[in-house]
Amino acid sequence: MNEITEGDCVEVMKDMGASSIDCMVTDPPYGIAYKSRQKEGGKNRLEAIANDATFDPVWQLAWMKAAFRTLKAGAHIYLFCSEHYVGEFRTTIIAAGFDIKRMLIWKKGHHGMGDMVGGYLPMTELILFAHKPAHKGDERALERQGQSNVIEVAGIRKMEFHPTEKPTGVLRTLILNSTKVGETVLDPFAGSGSTGVAAREENREPVLIELNPKYIKVIEGRLAQGGLF
Ligand SMILES: C[S@@+](CC[C@H](N)C(=O)[O-])C[C@H]1O[C@@H](n2cnc3c(N)ncnc32)[C@H](O)[C@@H]1O
Repeated sequence: MNEITEGDCVEVMKDMGASSIDCMVTDPPYGIAYKSRQKEGGKNRLEAIANDATFDPVWQLAWMKAAFRTLKAGAHIYLFCSEHYVGEFRTTIIAAGFDIKRMLIWKKGHHGMGDMVGGYLPMTELILFAHKPAHKGDERALERQGQSNVIEVAGIRKMEFHPTEKPTGVLRTLILNSTKVGETVLDPFAGSGSTGVAAREENREPVLIELNPKYIKVIEGRLAQGGLF
């Protein structure tokens, strides 16, 4: 299985073996036209994200179905999703065949930008946790049980590699909870490869797909360093 593949994940996943992957941890385009506010020389430092302009239920369902096929029965999936479309993400993930288990809250320790006057500043992100259904007795338990659905890991204050880069700490928590050493972790929207770095750090096998060749170079660089940053 390739560790890093450049391309459209829907097409790439169609060519992967059915029921071959142990876990998926991913941060797909949310459909919110996210724009980084970080500036350099008066310009946005980091470019817009592909497939993020609007929430497209047809496309979201297509990639979730392609991912479903690649996962083993009972596999756990973690999907970062925006509160703006959380209902749509839930509906789509069920339509793709997954069983939703719970919404996890990632508490970041500092708040982001927002409406300081009429609104509340965001300090959390949502992670949808689901399973690929399995026959009775073949379901997968959490490796570390009895945890609450709130994960407290510091967020990244200044993105270095990607406008929506996730800290490896939160990804490592999810990977440790849902896989054993040597198992495969798929991220079809790898961005700068944070899931790959986290998987490597925990001696799991990353399977990363990314559309943007610029980020493929970033992933290669991060993993070449041993995945330790
Ligand atoms: C929200 S970002 C992921 C960032 C990542 N969590 C990180 O820490 O760097 C989503 C990524 O999906 C990529 N993407 C969008 N459409 C894609 C597609 N059809 N196939 C593969 N990658 C895609 C974008 O280029 C972007 O880098």
